[in-house]
Amino acid sequence: MAPSSPRPDPVAPNGPTPADPGSSVPALQIDDLHVSVDDREILRGVSLQVEPGSLHALMGPNGSGKSTLANTLLANPAYVVTAGRILLDGEDVTNLPTDERARRGLFLGFQHPEEIPGVSVLNFLRQAIARRKGIDDFSVLEVRLSLIDWTKRLGMDTRFQERYLNEGFSGGEKKRNEVLQMAMMEPDVAVLDETDSGLDIDALRQVAAGIGEVRKARPHLGILAITHYQRLLEHLVPDVVHVLVDGRIVATGGPEISLEVEARGFDAFRAHEEAPV
Ligand SMILES: Nc1ncnc2c1ncn2[C@@H]1O[C@H](COP(=O)(O)OP(=O)(O)O)[C@@H](O)[C@H]1O
Ligand SMILES: [Mg+2]
Repeated sequence: MAPSSPRPDPVAPNGPTPADPGSSVPALQIDDLHVSVDDREILRGVSLQVEPGSLHALMGPNGSGKSTLANTLLANPAYVVTAGRILLDGEDVTNLPTDERARRGLFLGFQHPEEIPGVSVLNFLRQAIARRKGIDDFSVLEVRLSLIDWTKRLGMDTRFQERYLNEGFSGGEKKRNEVLQMAMMEPDVAVLDETDSGLDIDALRQVAAGIGEVRKARPHLGILAITHYQRLLEHLVPDVVHVLVDGRIVATGGPEISLEVEARGFDAFRAHEEAPV
């Protein structure tokens, strides 16, 4: 095979091609993704790439399709991919189920984390980590030690691990628990949907600091932080900002884009979208 014309996409149709050492395969790559819910097209051709170690923010008004993208990445069956693809570390996972994506290093934090009565934080994490690592009898002790370590690093009460998942957690505790889960799962890509919603300024700062701690511990971790507001991004400076309006990315750039959103609102970007091409 002549190496003369480099292909932008390193994936062969029959499976993964190992990346060249030193080449930068995106941690997460989304190509021209179209997604329908109840036969209504919500995402209308979304493309973006999150490089290892980088923090991307996805901003957009309510109803623009941000959570649809998160749910699609999670492989929620209600969200049907009608065109395009999703790649993790260069491998096409578009047709893989949730747990297989998790095993390949994808972590998703949720806008409204579920309460799971009777399941402690410790047990939940033990099971999730066992699945991620493909080990059945994952050591409880190891998980417990790592959990104690991380709860301390994130400035959380170490008794937290005995509590039932999200039951009676405050908004701030739920979000910090999400960051704790992200730390413990050792993902390669994390998608955080509205991790800032409903937080007061102190909780917001703690969550942003927690995300910073996890990034320090996992320098190659790529993060896609989904947010309606600019305020999380004051504490967590993104490398790249994407603006999603009506199911399409209408702008991509540096942190200055989030300031433009703050100053001019999303309508200014809507005008871009409706401009003739
Ligand atoms: N599970 C669902 N069932 C029906 N409609 C949905 C569902 N999820 C999303 N939608 C629709 O998709 C559009 C985008 O919603 P969503 O992705 O939640 O936006 P955002 O997170 O940006 O506020 C909305 O019109 C919403 O009603
Ligand atoms: Mg949403």
